Amino acid sequence: MTGLDRATARDLLRAAQRARARAYAPYSRFRVGAAVLADDGRVFTGCNVECGSYGLSHCAERVAIHKAISEGVRRVVAVAVVGPGGKELTPCGACRQVMAEFGTAFVVVPRARGFRVYAFTDLLPRAFLRPQDYK
Ligand code: THU
Repeated sequence: MTGLDRATARDLLRAAQRARARAYAPYSRFRVGAAVLADDGRVFTGCNVECGSYGLSHCAERVAIHKAISEGVRRVVAVAVVGPGGKELTPCGACRQVMAEFGTAFVVVPRARGFRVYAFTDLLPRAFLRPQDYK
């Protein structure tokens, strides 16, 4: 895929922003929303879900991706992510690995004015994917 339509990116970012309102982040108070555009056109959203046993907390991106996968999606076109204050927030390394698993092509993040669309390979070049490739 060569690019992501600007209107599609903006809609996805708005969906992530709406999902952010549902964040459960009483420990970090760092609220995050995410939205996934699947290859069949469906959009799935997620928010971070924290736990008093901190290590069990889940990032918004993985919540959204796993919701999509559990509804039958296997290929992700784009993931939008929104953190506090509209500042650019790029996904953590663990979420990037999960994005790679499902072929994510683009990541959309807000900027001071507007938004930026990253090619996924700029965020996680040379990703490890299939164990069988190493046998
Ligand atoms: N978090 C996300 O949901 N997505 C990110 O890309 C970065 C971090 C969450 C995890 C935790 O609930 C809180 O933000 C603080 O790290």
